[in-house]
Amino acid sequence: MHYTQLRPVHNRWSYAISNVKENLWFILLSSLGILFILYGAAFAVVTFTPLVPSFISPKQTSAPDLADGIRQWPTVDNASAPIAQELCPGYYSENVVRTTNGITAWLRIAGQPCNIYGKDYNDLILNVTYQTDNRLNVRITDSEDIQYVIPDDVAKAPVAETNTAQKYEFEYNTQPFEFWVTRRSDGDILFDTRGTKLIFEDQYLEVMTKMEPNYNLYGLGEVIHELRLGNNLTRAMWATDLSNPIDSNMYGSHPVYLETRYGGDLQSRTTSTSHAVFLRSSHGMDVLLRPETLSYRVLGGIIDLYFYLGDTAIQAIQQYVSSIGLPAMQQYWVLGFHQCRWGYKNVNDLRDVVKLYREANIPLEVIWSDLDYMYQYRDWTLDEKNFHPDEMHHFLEELHANNQYYVPIIDAGIYAGNPTNLSDVYDPYTAGLDKSIYALNPDSSLYIGNVWPGYTTFPDFYRNANTLKWWIEAMRNFSTLVDYDGFWLDMNEISTFCTGSCGNDKLSDNPSCLFDFVGSPSTDYPEGFNVTNSTEGFHADSAKAVMAQIMPAVAPDAPVQLDKIGRNVNYPPYKIKLAEELLNLASHTLSPNVTHHDGTLEYDIHNLYAYTETMTAYKSFLELRPNKRPFLLTRGTFPGSGSYAAHWGGDNSSKFYYMAFSIPQVLSFQIFGIPVVGVDTCGFGGNTDFELCARWMQLGAFLPFYRNHNEITSIPQEAYRWSSVAEASRIAINIRYSLLPYWYTLMYRAHVDGTPMVRALAWEFPNEEALKDADRQFLVGSAILVTPVLEPLVTTVNGVFPGSRNDIWYDWYNYTKIEVPNGKNVTMDAPLGHINLAVRGGSILPMQEPGYTTTETRKNSLKLLVALSSEGVAQGEIYLDDEALVPASTLNVEMTVADGSLSVRSRGKFVITTMLSKITILGVTSKPKRVHFDSPVVVNWAYDETSRILTIFDIDKFNGSDLKSFNWTLTWAESDTST
Ligand SMILES: *[C@@H]1O[C@H](CO)[C@@H](O)[C@H](O)[C@H]1NC(C)=O
Ligand SMILES: *[C@@H]1O[C@H](CO)[C@@H](O)[C@H](O)[C@H]1NC(C)=O
Ligand SMILES: *[C@@H]1O[C@H](CO)[C@@H](O)[C@H](O)[C@H]1NC(C)=O
Repeated sequence: MHYTQLRPVHNRWSYAISNVKENLWFILLSSLGILFILYGAAFAVVTFTPLVPSFISPKQTSAPDLADGIRQWPTVDNASAPIAQELCPGYYSENVVRTTNGITAWLRIAGQPCNIYGKDYNDLILNVTYQTDNRLNVRITDSEDIQYVIPDDVAKAPVAETNTAQKYEFEYNTQPFEFWVTRRSDGDILFDTRGTKLIFEDQYLEVMTKMEPNYNLYGLGEVIHELRLGNNLTRAMWATDLSNPIDSNMYGSHPVYLETRYGGDLQSRTTSTSHAVFLRSSHGMDVLLRPETLSYRVLGGIIDLYFYLGDTAIQAIQQYVSSIGLPAMQQYWVLGFHQCRWGYKNVNDLRDVVKLYREANIPLEVIWSDLDYMYQYRDWTLDEKNFHPDEMHHFLEELHANNQYYVPIIDAGIYAGNPTNLSDVYDPYTAGLDKSIYALNPDSSLYIGNVWPGYTTFPDFYRNANTLKWWIEAMRNFSTLVDYDGFWLDMNEISTFCTGSCGNDKLSDNPSCLFDFVGSPSTDYPEGFNVTNSTEGFHADSAKAVMAQIMPAVAPDAPVQLDKIGRNVNYPPYKIKLAEELLNLASHTLSPNVTHHDGTLEYDIHNLYAYTETMTAYKSFLELRPNKRPFLLTRGTFPGSGSYAAHWGGDNSSKFYYMAFSIPQVLSFQIFGIPVVGVDTCGFGGNTDFELCARWMQLGAFLPFYRNHNEITSIPQEAYRWSSVAEASRIAINIRYSLLPYWYTLMYRAHVDGTPMVRALAWEFPNEEALKDADRQFLVGSAILVTPVLEPLVTTVNGVFPGSRNDIWYDWYNYTKIEVPNGKNVTMDAPLGHINLAVRGGSILPMQEPGYTTTETRKNSLKLLVALSSEGVAQGEIYLDDEALVPASTLNVEMTVADGSLSVRSRGKFVITTMLSKITILGVTSKPKRVHFDSPVVVNWAYDETSRILTIFDIDKFNGSDLKSFNWTLTWAESDTST
């Protein structure tokens, strides 16, 4: 759910923005009469101790004329802005000490301080640590320990381990201090600050590295952009609730990049190499990608750089993800298909959707509620009129009996009760007051913003044990109303609709911001809806062009209010390149001067807010449901969020180009360590149409998190609404469910070592430079190549089958070898309802007969699809467990084919209760003389000469239980000489 601007906005690139803005209107319901009528319908949680909040003394801390604040023009776009590299002195090093595990040194300022975007520190400490063989940490701090450092109890810094064979070399010059990092094996210089100056001020850090010409960089999110970031982009990071703007800051902050280098001038580089670089920082920043350099320009904190040596992209990702916190293993059902809509306005709506899905025979695993279920948009409440707890109870009982699940939304902002209206009792708020959990203004008054329910407070999750207690209590109380299966954490960047603490003297107007969305239907449709009104295009150059701003000759002065250590946090001297519609750092989010309970300012930890909320929700879950895997979906993210939650891409629109962007979005989050990720299938804002929705339901089935969701002013878009979409969805969901054992195994791989669940072509084919920016195709694991249609009004799609002549691809649908030249762009048939899928030779896929739910699927018989490589080999694995947080029983099955023989070996105690029914082997070059298991069991087999497929079938009929242990060998002797 979305942020809506309450003031008119001049927006020249509105197509990238959810329509919400133009179409929603709201009614202020401040009349007490209406209030009482609505209050009658309330069913607020009652077990909190109600408190009369008489001690609140609302105060407005920012002058009223500064309501929106002053527009800050990005420094990077300002030709007359001082250039730190020219004006600042840099540092020299002394007292360099080589320790067993790295280097430490003093860095002293090498001249007069420049003080351009803050105050220079004269003395710094350099601490280089060889953390592992593949990971190097370069940390530069102020000698006085004043600058903010993310504490380990909030997000654990990567931990050094014993290491002996570092793959890197850290080298430096002392005067001026410059450093470079080299990969030992090939001498390749990965990061090189030579010729640039280090700048270290209280509100500005700058580190710059030389880059190779035309470098290939990925990551640096969250951003809507092609996968490869290009060499001319400024990536600002400042968590904000914006509806999928292109190329600008949005919900999450991930200051990590993956770089891949091909061939190049290094003789030794026969294949590509990849490495990753992570700047561990929660501050606002710009990362400047320029043709020959990359610079970090950070608004505070310290320089805490981590280098991950790779050598492959997947290894670099594994090394990074392992260091920030491995992704959570989700419950099996999370892989099912989810349906949501803002506008399921009562229990019957939910019931109908579930019923209509079943009637249409389209598998539905999870039904979601957006804000509709709450009483006046207040967290932890039910609207008793439309979602009566008894009815909810019955509905959820039925749902759960059918092995289906329910997830409601929880927003970050907490409605602040009206102090002048004693009957406006909202216990979660007063309980929070009681525990002092809310974020504060610098004068210790409550920070009051404005979100859906009206003027709201914001729980302070930062190192605040009381907030955790409050969440646990709220969750426990809510459990008595709703038997939820997870939570959807929204609006947690944090989002607020006004600027600053706007509500301090307005609480008596509460509830002041009730929205009425009825009667304003969207009129926006996908590109192909009017045949003549075709594509906005995947490449958003036109959007970028209109974003270019003409700055005023003289920008108005922003007020200077210094914090305790002399910083201007609301208007820092260096202005990062925020999205155009954001005037300044406080726009639509908490002011940087918001004060957390330990005195930390929002300025220093803004990008951590959603992360701390997610961690709190996760801990609360475990408190109430010990040893059950918490399911959380979060919009805001930070490095490490993947250990707690899944993510979706937020408010996209029903446009083909947003569907196309979903691929780089999901691939980038594989780098960020949040592999269970997807986007709002069929689009959130605007109306979809059958063509877009059919294409998108098919693409979404091959992304790790698969949810259809849209907003209240759009037409309904459940998969059963159009016959073409229904048919396309049945096909795609059945394929997804038939591959559930494979998906679960991929999730396990991500969980144990950070391996991406879905992969860019370049990651799987690291020697093919032509694939460096391929992001219209992708792979599920390493075995399934997906080539979706991403444009309207077409019946074909172009794609490549990567690899060399030795790489074989089989068509998913008819199992035949695809006879096309590898690496060449080819055109494939792709009528509506058909998504092109290819299986890679050399893989073994565990499969199951698809059922209506993931639970039913798991009861059906197992199958193996073996796709032989040109050398006749293949491999695969299966992981299963009891789904506990710490599983008591697990099963790891290794499968390999060599020399006409499939060997299956397992370890672990988890027992698969279903039988193996079929093994299909693709690419068997001639008819076997004999097919047999290593145990004396009956084998029914058939060989298809033309398509070269060997099928072993009816295994379960004769001897399922003999093979259940997953320790056996199957041999097909292609000639008499074989055994
Ligand atoms: C450098 O960092 C290491 C590892 O974090 C730490 O043990 C050591 O005390 C630090 N040294 C200095 C001089 O700060
Ligand atoms: C880089 O991007 C800027 C702004 O988008 C544009 O004006 C400039 O021409 C680009 N430079 C190159 C070399 O493409
Ligand atoms: C589609 O075409 C109709 C008729 O020409 C027109 O009224 C409508 O505005 C068009 N819609 C869009 C989204 O272009």
